[in-house]
Amino acid sequence: MKWIAVNTYEEISEVAANIFSKQIQEKPNSVLGLATGGSPVGMYKELVARHQAGRLSFKDVQTFNLDEYVGLEQASPASYWTFMHENLFNFVDILTENIHLPNGKSEDLAAECVAYDGRIEEAGGIDLQLLGIGVNGHIGFNEPGTPFDATTNIVELTESTRTENAVYFDNLSEVPTHAITMGIQSIMKAKEIVLIAFGEKKLDAIEKLKSGHVTEDFPASQLLNHPNVTIIYGGTN
Ligand code: F6R
Repeated sequence: MKWIAVNTYEEISEVAANIFSKQIQEKPNSVLGLATGGSPVGMYKELVARHQAGRLSFKDVQTFNLDEYVGLEQASPASYWTFMHENLFNFVDILTENIHLPNGKSEDLAAECVAYDGRIEEAGGIDLQLLGIGVNGHIGFNEPGTPFDATTNIVELTESTRTENAVYFDNLSEVPTHAITMGIQSIMKAKEIVLIAFGEKKLDAIEKLKSGHVTEDFPASQLLNHPNVTIIYGGTN
């Protein structure tokens, strides 16, 4: 595991954007795993700027997002589909058919989970996966206690995760109770992983990861068993 300590959110965004830009430049038809949330917004902004400056093209890139809420319309303002379009896809030359998010409105969610892992395999697997981390060590929506061998699955969101995500909704009661998420095993299949964590509230989680103890009670710890992970972290809020 490679550790990169930085001081500011801008630095995290730039270092992460450098890794993603290099990946796309070296392999224009890269398959990228993407995340939502506050952590990657700056990196997406930086990638958009590089695209607009003519330095980066997404025209052959495929993307697979980690997760999506169950039951939200794709175009709902709080869906991860909308988040990704508003932060990245609307501003780069990615083809619509190359954008993949789990379908949380599927009538057969179990089949959608299997199909999502299948679509990743068909694309040749994820070359570079971006992750954020929850204060409780969750990656994707894989909360503490998730088996490490889980593939894409439906999860019931914990009250703490629903409360944290309520800022994206009008009120807590509107936050969906379930989500569809790539499992830890699906994430571990990525050839390379970059995890970004900014601010004081993530420091405990980073310290736990550094301690080297692998346990299903702290989902991100399974990354210690992956051969090619970079953690970019630091900063105070
Ligand atoms: C998002 C995701 C989550 C977040 C994590 C950190 O697609 O899967 O695991 O990465 O909750 O969220 P932020 O970046 O908002 O602190």
